[in-house]
Amino acid sequence: MNVKNIRLINFRNYHNISVEFNKNINIFIGKNAQGKTNLLEAIHMCSAGKSFRSNRDKEIINFEKDEAYIGTDVETKIYDKFVELKLNREKSKIIRINKIEIKNLKELDTSLSVVVFRPDDLKLVKDGPNERRSFLDQGISQIKPVYNYNINRYNKILFQRNNLLKSCRLNRKQISLLDVFDVQISKIGASIVLERHKFIDELSKNCKAIHNKLTSNKEDLIVKYHSNIPILKTKDEIEKQYYSMLKNNLNLDIENGTSQIGPHRDDILFYINGKEVKTFGSQGQQRTLVLTLKLSEVDLIKKEKDSYPVVLLDDVFSELDDERRKYLTKYFNEMQVFITATDAADIKSIENYNKSIYYIENGKIYKRS
Ligand SMILES: Nc1ncnc2c1ncn2[C@@H]1O[C@H](COP(=O)(O)OP(=O)(O)OP(=O)(O)O)[C@@H](O)[C@H]1O
Ligand SMILES: [Mg+2]
Repeated sequence: MNVKNIRLINFRNYHNISVEFNKNINIFIGKNAQGKTNLLEAIHMCSAGKSFRSNRDKEIINFEKDEAYIGTDVETKIYDKFVELKLNREKSKIIRINKIEIKNLKELDTSLSVVVFRPDDLKLVKDGPNERRSFLDQGISQIKPVYNYNINRYNKILFQRNNLLKSCRLNRKQISLLDVFDVQISKIGASIVLERHKFIDELSKNCKAIHNKLTSNKEDLIVKYHSNIPILKTKDEIEKQYYSMLKNNLNLDIENGTSQIGPHRDDILFYINGKEVKTFGSQGQQRTLVLTLKLSEVDLIKKEKDSYPVVLLDDVFSELDDERRKYLTKYFNEMQVFITATDAADIKSIENYNKSIYYIENGKIYKRS
């Protein structure tokens, strides 16, 4: 799939622009604060329905205006789709596909899949487990929409269980009420654990192969799922074990006023040549690991949808050595890619490929002829 063009009106620092894109590689060169990330943000919004940098749609509307518009023609294997987003300071946003308004953001994803690489992604390796769980949840939801529903249910029940634990501290009589939650949470939790286990199994194989190529076989990567629920043979067995663990831990849970057992405490561990990357990895190794994870996301989407996603690389090239740049460029040759850079020297490795180069200056985009 590919994005044929984009029209932006009052979107951040763009007043009114229309740009046609290359089916393969698109390079945007510009100084700081000219609108490079803003453009990628707009493309990404056509797939996610929301920004990758803000939860508040209103921030996206140009400071001096009340409405913003994004319109894009997406070419897919079957037919073209015209995706439009309208943002308004006073009203909720309107999203349309081929002029028909959609109510569920998920519908956008069926038109356009996008994978973004940003310098900020490093927190996936460096920060706490929250980031990694979101990565996991996002990855699984793309393949299995019901998973997202289960996660929401799980979080709701967990919240209620935690509230009840706190009340039990004051009034032990309420303990009997906990069982309703324990039954539900071990049922939903078991299916979440199983899905995560399956996903990471696949991810690990995939990442190992990609990482080997990126590092010319110098680094062996292992991705491991870490959960306090043991992975047993069947879902029923996991559920039973989980339920009994909740019971065994009940006194501690009441004491702490929070649930200690369950997938909300899960994590993913990464090892390069046997050493944990978060603690022992160099900055370069951590960056390469993030790249590997993102590339495997690209592969998963290709497998699932039989079509490559559109790939956005924000300021990522400058951070890589030449060997990695060359590998990436070759890899991306089969899909549509958007690359931003502040310095034209960063994109030298792309010289021989089919590409269009654009300059971005103060919210205006000029194509190099
Ligand atoms: N709602 C808005 N209305 C108008 N301008 C905005 C809005 N939001 C952000 N901007 C401006 O957009 C400009 C460009 O931002 P952007 O993040 O795209 O820059 P960039 O080219 O990616 O720069 P860098 O190389 O530093 O990453 C900034 O100067 C910012 O102040
Ligand atoms: Mg930027």
